[in-house]
Amino acid sequence: MAVDLLLGLQWGDEGKGKIVDVLTQSYDIIARFQGGPNAGHTLEFDGIKHVLHTIPSGIFHPTAINLIGNGVVIDPVIFQKEIEKLEPFNIALETKLLISKKAHLILPTHRLLDAAAEQAKGKAKIGSTLKGIGPTYMDKTGRNGMRVGTLLLEDWKERYEQLKQKHLHLLDQFQQELAFDLEQAEVEFFDSIEALKKCPLVDSEHYLHQAMKAGKKILAEGAQGSLLDIDFGTYPFVTSSTTTAAGACTGLGIAPNSIGDVFGIFKAYTTRVGSGPFPTELFDADGERMGKVGNEFGATTGRARRCGWLDLVALKYSVRINGVTQLMMMKGDVLSGFPKIKVCTAYQTPEGPIDYFPYDVSPELVTPIYTELEGWSEDLTQLGSADQLPESLHAYIDFLEKELETPIKIVSVGPDRTQTIFR
Ligand code: GDP
Ligand code: IMO
Ligand code: MG
Repeated sequence: MAVDLLLGLQWGDEGKGKIVDVLTQSYDIIARFQGGPNAGHTLEFDGIKHVLHTIPSGIFHPTAINLIGNGVVIDPVIFQKEIEKLEPFNIALETKLLISKKAHLILPTHRLLDAAAEQAKGKAKIGSTLKGIGPTYMDKTGRNGMRVGTLLLEDWKERYEQLKQKHLHLLDQFQQELAFDLEQAEVEFFDSIEALKKCPLVDSEHYLHQAMKAGKKILAEGAQGSLLDIDFGTYPFVTSSTTTAAGACTGLGIAPNSIGDVFGIFKAYTTRVGSGPFPTELFDADGERMGKVGNEFGATTGRARRCGWLDLVALKYSVRINGVTQLMMMKGDVLSGFPKIKVCTAYQTPEGPIDYFPYDVSPELVTPIYTELEGWSEDLTQLGSADQLPESLHAYIDFLEKELETPIKIVSVGPDRTQTIFR
């Protein structure tokens, strides 16, 4: 049985949480494969909005198993808070939520290191969510990290202390004053570890292999987006994990030939939160309007998201790198009322126009070349089927499908689970 993947194709916040929630009815297992609490995945149904950071977005389905894979980094404190928020919904977490023993732990001092590194960068800062993601993945690849499985060892507190001491030495090098109460943070940390240990801690790759053998349907849930990928994103303004399809192989232990469909999610326009180049970014009333109508504020940090037109050069790149088989277009409703819709189809560079995503997309090197399409004025949020979509939105979708050579199978017209149109 193949594993399907669901990935963000832009700079994150495409609406992955919403679509995973919608698709979960067709799957037995939802498995997160990378990232950590830098993610904020929003789901809305029955008038309630939920934001998940570490827990996969299939958690509200009555029977689906949700698995946090080895590629994920977990902050037990944030994880515990997520669990507490779920309490009113009576979800049988003890059987429905599994954690890989190979997942790495974010320590309080990882967060401190993140803050110190950002401060030291000054104007060149990444705009990190400051959740300790970078330092935790550095310890993973540096072979110093603490994994969930470490917590089952008798001497885990000594190992914690060793790693903490290493971090404190590193922090000395930064010579910065950070407003952080480490003692208090450690009290919370140790407390939350107990909560984490109540979940089934599993050999997740083995669990998934057995499930595949038994014919279970598995959906791998990505975090962030392809343009934040450590290799293919707008480096160094990226996150520290492989957000692209290959990340599902390493982050879950799934072989490439076990991958079935690759669902690529994108917004009908583009947003980015944090620093880094963004060729189609708007600094005018149009961008402001996208942000306002789209309620573009980060689900994790509350920061305003930068907004701009759809960048097809970047989107084609993401479709190619991930091997996307089906596209899902989100937030078409936000563009209602724009008389004209612009789409970037090439970049102007000092060497002439190019139609591929180059090494550096800084504003002094690339300027977007736009194609203009007709807008639509209708409110889409109440529409229930594809044949009700306005003519000019059909034309927009047809144009994108042709350019991307990939079908758009879902058009999302609002944040709620029900505001989802299948084509
Ligand atoms: P994720 O990180 O990819 O899961 O996305 P986020 O949850 O960070 O951001 C997506 C935001 O858009 C959330 O506030 C969603 O509730 C909202 N959203 C998702 N789909 C739609 C849509 O089709 N229309 C509108 N207006 N909002 C949407
Ligand atoms: P979801 O899963 C949007 C951005 C940060 C920053 C950069 C590095 O909700 O789509 P990090 O905390 O990883 O060191 O930050 O990546 N970033 C995201 N932007 N959505 C996310 O996740 C993001 N996770 C990280 O803003 O620019
Ligand atoms: Mg998000």
